[in-house]
Amino acid sequence: MAIVSIPEEHRTLTDEAEIRRHLADVGVCYERWEPAHALADDAPPEEILAAYAAEVERLKARGGYVTADVIDVGPQTPGLEEMLAKFKREHRHEEDEVRFVISGRGLFHLHPEGGPVTCVEVGPGDLLSVPRGMRHWFGLCADRRIRAIRLFQDAAGWAPHYTGSGAERDYQPVCLGPSYAPPRLGAA
Ligand SMILES: [Fe+2]
Repeated sequence: MAIVSIPEEHRTLTDEAEIRRHLADVGVCYERWEPAHALADDAPPEEILAAYAAEVERLKARGGYVTADVIDVGPQTPGLEEMLAKFKREHRHEEDEVRFVISGRGLFHLHPEGGPVTCVEVGPGDLLSVPRGMRHWFGLCADRRIRAIRLFQDAAGWAPHYTGSGAERDYQPVCLGPSYAPPRLGAA
């Protein structure tokens, strides 16, 4: 389940309907895909795509996506920090960024024109579609792990166009979900 916060308004949303409504208002599609399909932790990409074939086909028909794949990264992934560095600065691209999270968590910051930044922490079962052209940035939570289905409108994929605004520097890339462990006061 996602957790949404709007730091400038000191608001946090945890109710699914409220989250969907807020994100729809800024042009971002959010869905929960339930019931989830049972998958082993080490299920290969083909098995994941086969399990979610019906949902993926429905999205393809709706959004004009032509390909789907699975991204699976963890702390042991070679070059992980270099890969993440590409996404943690504010950017936009020419096609939608569509992610359905199978496991792990991630943090999107969405920066709609004329509106405040909205942080969306996504976890298993969450589908988020950031529309083409919307300014945003992305990072992983502290456990540095995510496995997600991605959909693309162009089989060649896309490259980020950086805005150079530096907006990301004003926001803490901190997740609040299940992996968050608050510091223990007085702990040795
Ligand atoms: Fe992006």
